Amino acid sequence: MPKLIVVDRAGVEKTMEAQTGLTLMEAIRDNGFDELLALCGGCCSCATCHVYVDPAFADKLPPMSEDENDLLESSDHRNETSRLSCQVPLTADMDGLKVSIAAED
Ligand code: FES
Repeated sequence: MPKLIVVDRAGVEKTMEAQTGLTLMEAIRDNGFDELLALCGGCCSCATCHVYVDPAFADKLPPMSEDENDLLESSDHRNETSRLSCQVPLTADMDGLKVSIAAED
């Protein structure tokens, strides 16, 4: 089970074990981070699951789809490490991944 380090909007870090097969969004929400709204439930249509991913893990993430890219474009808080966490399935080689929950749009 990969370990994730999640940083909330207040800057508080929490380390947690995550189940492979879940998406990053599901793992974060299952660990009580209610500020990750994920309103569309993972359908890639809301952008409320926006996170910043440690650039060291960029090559371990799946490529970004056009839909994800378009949705992130609508965020005022996008940066080069932005991803929609519902579009990132967890794999064993993501052990130690650090993600920060992006500011709310
Ligand atoms: S949960 Fe809506 S886009 Fe990810």
